[in-house]
Amino acid sequence: MPNVQIMDHPLIQHKINYIRSEDVGSKEFREIVSEIASLMCYEASRDLKLTDVKIKTPICEMTGKKLSGKKMAVVPILRAGLGMVDGILKMIPAAKVGHIGLYRDPKTFQPVEYYCKLPADCSEREVFVVDPMLATGGSSAAAIQLLKDKGVKHIRFLCIIAAPEGVELMKAEHPDVALYIGALDDHLNEHKYIVPGLGDAGDRIFGTK
Ligand code: PRP
Ligand code: URA
Repeated sequence: MPNVQIMDHPLIQHKINYIRSEDVGSKEFREIVSEIASLMCYEASRDLKLTDVKIKTPICEMTGKKLSGKKMAVVPILRAGLGMVDGILKMIPAAKVGHIGLYRDPKTFQPVEYYCKLPADCSEREVFVVDPMLATGGSSAAAIQLLKDKGVKHIRFLCIIAAPEGVELMKAEHPDVALYIGALDDHLNEHKYIVPGLGDAGDRIFGTK
Protein backbone atom coordinates (compact mmCIF):
# COMPACT_ATOMS: atom_id res chain seq x y z
CA MET A 1 0.00 0.00 0.00
CA PRO A 2 1.83 3.15 -1.11
CA ASN A 3 1.75 5.94 1.45
CA VAL A 4 0.52 3.56 4.17
CA GLN A 5 3.00 2.19 6.69
CA ILE A 6 2.10 -0.36 9.31
CA MET A 7 4.65 0.04 12.07
CA ASP A 8 5.87 -3.42 12.86
CA HIS A 9 8.52 -2.34 15.36
CA PRO A 10 8.42 -4.91 18.21
CA LEU A 11 8.20 -2.24 20.93
CA ILE A 12 5.23 -0.60 19.22
CA GLN A 13 3.50 -3.95 18.75
CA HIS A 14 4.17 -4.99 22.35
CA LYS A 15 2.80 -1.75 23.79
CA ILE A 16 -0.30 -1.74 21.57
CA ASN A 17 -1.02 -5.31 22.57
CA TYR A 18 -0.71 -4.30 26.23
CA ILE A 19 -3.18 -1.40 26.12
CA ARG A 20 -5.81 -3.39 24.23
CA SER A 21 -6.59 -5.28 27.44
CA GLU A 22 -9.69 -4.03 29.25
CA ASP A 23 -7.78 -4.54 32.52
CA VAL A 24 -5.45 -1.60 31.85
CA GLY A 25 -6.60 1.51 33.75
CA SER A 26 -6.46 5.15 32.63
CA LYS A 27 -3.13 6.07 34.22
CA GLU A 28 -1.26 3.24 32.56
CA PHE A 29 -3.24 3.59 29.33
CA ARG A 30 -2.28 7.28 29.05
CA GLU A 31 1.38 6.62 29.78
CA ILE A 32 1.66 3.88 27.20
CA VAL A 33 -0.25 5.81 24.52
CA SER A 34 2.34 8.54 25.01
CA GLU A 35 5.21 6.05 24.70
CA ILE A 36 3.69 4.58 21.53
CA ALA A 37 3.34 8.09 20.09
CA SER A 38 7.07 8.73 20.71
CA LEU A 39 8.05 5.51 18.98
CA MET A 40 5.70 6.16 16.07
CA CYS A 41 7.03 9.68 15.72
CA TYR A 42 10.57 8.33 15.58
CA GLU A 43 9.60 6.01 12.73
CA ALA A 44 7.41 8.54 10.93
CA SER A 45 10.15 11.15 10.89
CA ARG A 46 12.75 8.94 9.18
CA ASP A 47 12.58 10.86 5.91
CA LEU A 48 12.85 14.37 7.35
CA LYS A 49 15.53 16.28 5.50
CA LEU A 50 18.90 17.05 7.06
CA THR A 51 21.26 19.86 6.27
CA ASP A 52 25.01 20.22 6.85
CA VAL A 53 26.12 22.47 9.66
CA LYS A 54 29.61 23.41 10.83
CA ILE A 55 30.20 23.05 14.57
CA LYS A 56 33.18 23.02 16.89
CA THR A 57 33.43 20.21 19.39
CA PRO A 58 35.83 20.57 22.34
CA ILE A 59 38.26 18.60 20.14
CA CYS A 60 37.95 20.04 16.62
CA GLU A 61 35.73 21.56 13.95
CA MET A 62 33.43 19.28 12.03
CA THR A 63 30.51 19.29 9.63
CA GLY A 64 27.51 17.75 11.32
CA LYS A 65 23.84 17.36 10.41
CA LYS A 66 20.74 19.10 11.69
CA LEU A 67 17.12 19.08 10.62
CA SER A 68 16.71 21.34 7.60
CA GLY A 69 14.80 24.59 8.01
CA LYS A 70 11.34 23.03 7.76
CA LYS A 71 9.17 23.84 10.76
CA MET A 72 6.86 21.28 12.27
CA ALA A 73 3.50 21.18 13.99
CA VAL A 74 1.55 18.49 15.76
CA VAL A 75 -2.23 18.64 15.50
CA PRO A 76 -4.23 16.28 17.74
CA ILE A 77 -7.85 15.53 16.91
CA LEU A 78 -9.64 16.17 20.22
CA ARG A 79 -10.09 14.55 22.52
CA ALA A 80 -8.22 11.30 22.17
CA GLY A 81 -5.46 12.77 20.00
CA LEU A 82 -4.35 14.81 23.02
CA GLY A 83 -3.01 11.58 24.50
CA MET A 84 -0.36 11.42 21.76
CA VAL A 85 0.90 15.03 21.94
CA ASP A 86 3.40 14.69 24.81
CA GLY A 87 5.00 11.67 23.20
CA ILE A 88 5.49 13.57 19.92
CA LEU A 89 6.83 16.66 21.68
CA LYS A 90 9.40 14.54 23.51
CA MET A 91 10.84 13.73 20.08
CA ILE A 92 10.26 17.14 18.43
CA PRO A 93 10.23 19.69 21.29
CA ALA A 94 10.22 22.72 19.00
CA ALA A 95 7.00 21.73 17.23
CA LYS A 96 4.02 24.05 17.55
CA VAL A 97 0.70 22.52 18.61
CA GLY A 98 -2.66 23.11 16.92
CA HIS A 99 -5.99 21.59 18.00
CA ILE A 100 -8.93 20.34 15.96
CA GLY A 101 -12.05 19.43 17.94
CA LEU A 102 -14.25 16.80 16.32
CA TYR A 103 -16.59 14.25 17.78
CA ARG A 104 -18.40 11.44 16.07
CA ASP A 105 -22.16 11.80 16.15
CA PRO A 106 -23.26 8.56 17.86
CA LYS A 107 -26.22 8.10 15.46
CA THR A 108 -24.84 9.14 12.09
CA PHE A 109 -21.16 8.42 12.90
CA GLN A 110 -20.35 11.63 11.02
CA PRO A 111 -17.72 14.00 12.48
CA VAL A 112 -18.99 17.22 14.06
CA GLU A 113 -16.49 20.08 14.31
CA TYR A 114 -16.49 22.13 17.52
CA TYR A 115 -13.03 23.70 17.74
CA CYS A 116 -10.10 24.67 15.59
CA LYS A 117 -7.01 26.61 16.63
CA LEU A 118 -3.87 26.28 14.56
CA PRO A 119 -0.44 27.93 14.57
CA ALA A 120 -0.61 31.10 12.45
CA ASP A 121 2.09 29.83 10.09
CA CYS A 122 0.62 26.32 9.89
CA SER A 123 0.64 26.34 6.08
CA GLU A 124 4.47 26.59 6.14
CA ARG A 125 4.83 23.63 8.49
CA GLU A 126 5.13 19.88 8.13
CA VAL A 127 2.06 18.81 10.10
CA PHE A 128 1.74 15.57 12.09
CA VAL A 129 -1.98 14.95 12.66
CA VAL A 130 -2.50 12.49 15.52
CA ASP A 131 -5.47 10.44 16.70
CA PRO A 132 -5.20 7.00 18.30
CA MET A 133 -8.15 5.61 16.32
CA LEU A 134 -8.96 5.53 12.60
CA ALA A 135 -12.36 3.84 12.38
CA THR A 136 -14.64 4.96 9.51
CA GLY A 137 -12.02 7.59 8.72
CA GLY A 138 -14.63 10.36 8.83
CA SER A 139 -12.91 12.32 11.63
CA SER A 140 -9.39 12.18 10.24
CA ALA A 141 -10.48 12.87 6.66
CA ALA A 142 -12.44 15.94 7.88
CA ALA A 143 -9.53 17.18 10.03
CA ILE A 144 -7.11 16.86 7.13
CA GLN A 145 -9.52 18.64 4.77
CA LEU A 146 -9.74 21.47 7.28
CA LEU A 147 -5.93 21.76 7.30
CA LYS A 148 -5.78 21.67 3.49
CA ASP A 149 -8.44 24.40 3.32
CA LYS A 150 -6.06 26.52 5.41
CA GLY A 151 -3.26 25.94 2.94
CA VAL A 152 -1.34 23.16 4.71
CA LYS A 153 0.49 21.07 2.10
CA HIS A 154 2.65 18.61 4.00
CA ILE A 155 0.61 16.33 6.22
CA ARG A 156 1.34 13.00 7.93
CA PHE A 157 -1.32 11.13 9.87
CA LEU A 158 -0.36 8.92 12.83
CA CYS A 159 -2.85 6.56 14.43
CA ILE A 160 -2.35 3.69 16.82
CA ILE A 161 -5.11 1.39 15.55
CA ALA A 162 -6.85 1.54 12.18
CA ALA A 163 -9.73 -0.32 10.55
CA PRO A 164 -9.48 -1.22 6.85
CA GLU A 165 -12.57 0.95 6.17
CA GLY A 166 -10.79 4.05 7.51
CA VAL A 167 -7.62 3.35 5.57
CA GLU A 168 -9.64 3.04 2.35
CA LEU A 169 -11.42 6.34 2.98
CA MET A 170 -8.14 8.13 3.70
CA LYS A 171 -6.53 6.69 0.58
CA ALA A 172 -9.52 7.80 -1.51
CA GLU A 173 -9.89 11.30 -0.04
CA HIS A 174 -6.28 12.14 0.81
CA PRO A 175 -3.95 10.01 -1.30
CA ASP A 176 -1.18 12.57 -0.78
CA VAL A 177 -1.15 12.12 3.02
CA ALA A 178 1.25 9.53 4.45
CA LEU A 179 -0.48 7.22 6.94
CA TYR A 180 1.48 5.71 9.81
CA ILE A 181 -0.49 2.98 11.54
CA GLY A 182 0.47 1.04 14.67
CA ALA A 183 -1.85 -1.90 14.00
CA LEU A 184 -4.32 -2.64 11.21
CA ASP A 185 -7.31 -4.40 12.73
CA ASP A 186 -10.02 -6.55 11.24
CA HIS A 187 -13.25 -4.61 10.76
CA LEU A 188 -15.81 -2.22 12.30
CA ASN A 189 -18.75 -3.50 14.31
CA GLU A 190 -22.36 -2.25 14.00
CA HIS A 191 -21.49 0.74 16.25
CA LYS A 192 -18.49 1.55 14.04
CA TYR A 193 -16.04 0.52 16.74
CA ILE A 194 -12.84 -1.14 15.66
CA VAL A 195 -12.72 -4.92 16.17
CA PRO A 196 -10.78 -6.11 18.11
CA GLY A 197 -9.59 -2.53 18.81
CA LEU A 198 -9.23 -1.21 22.33
CA GLY A 199 -12.64 0.34 22.94
CA ASP A 200 -13.20 4.09 23.16
CA ALA A 201 -9.75 5.68 23.23
CA GLY A 202 -10.96 9.04 24.57
CA ASP A 203 -12.85 7.41 27.44
CA ARG A 204 -9.87 5.21 28.31
CA ILE A 205 -7.40 8.12 28.27
CA PHE A 206 -9.56 10.47 30.31
CA GLY A 207 -11.38 7.95 32.50
CA THR A 208 -14.83 8.97 31.24
CA LYS A 209 -17.67 6.73 30.19
C1 PRP B 1 -12.82 8.85 18.26
C2 PRP B 1 -11.37 8.80 17.84
C3 PRP B 1 -11.41 9.43 16.47
C4 PRP B 1 -12.75 8.97 15.94
C5 PRP B 1 -12.51 7.83 15.00
O1 PRP B 1 -13.16 10.09 18.72
O2 PRP B 1 -10.50 9.43 18.73
O3 PRP B 1 -11.34 10.84 16.50
O4 PRP B 1 -13.52 8.52 17.06
O5 PRP B 1 -13.69 7.47 14.39
P1 PRP B 1 -13.97 7.69 12.84
O6 PRP B 1 -12.73 7.27 12.12
O7 PRP B 1 -15.13 6.80 12.57
O8 PRP B 1 -14.30 9.13 12.62
P2 PRP B 1 -14.61 10.40 19.36
O9 PRP B 1 -15.54 10.89 18.29
O10 PRP B 1 -15.06 9.21 20.14
O11 PRP B 1 -14.34 11.63 20.28
P3 PRP B 1 -13.43 11.75 21.59
O12 PRP B 1 -11.99 11.65 21.13
O13 PRP B 1 -13.77 13.10 22.08
O14 PRP B 1 -13.80 10.66 22.54
N1 URA C 1 -13.35 5.66 18.29
C1 URA C 1 -12.75 4.97 19.29
O1 URA C 1 -12.30 5.56 20.29
N2 URA C 1 -12.68 3.63 19.18
C2 URA C 1 -13.15 2.97 18.11
O2 URA C 1 -13.03 1.73 18.06
C3 URA C 1 -13.78 3.72 17.10
C4 URA C 1 -13.86 5.05 17.20
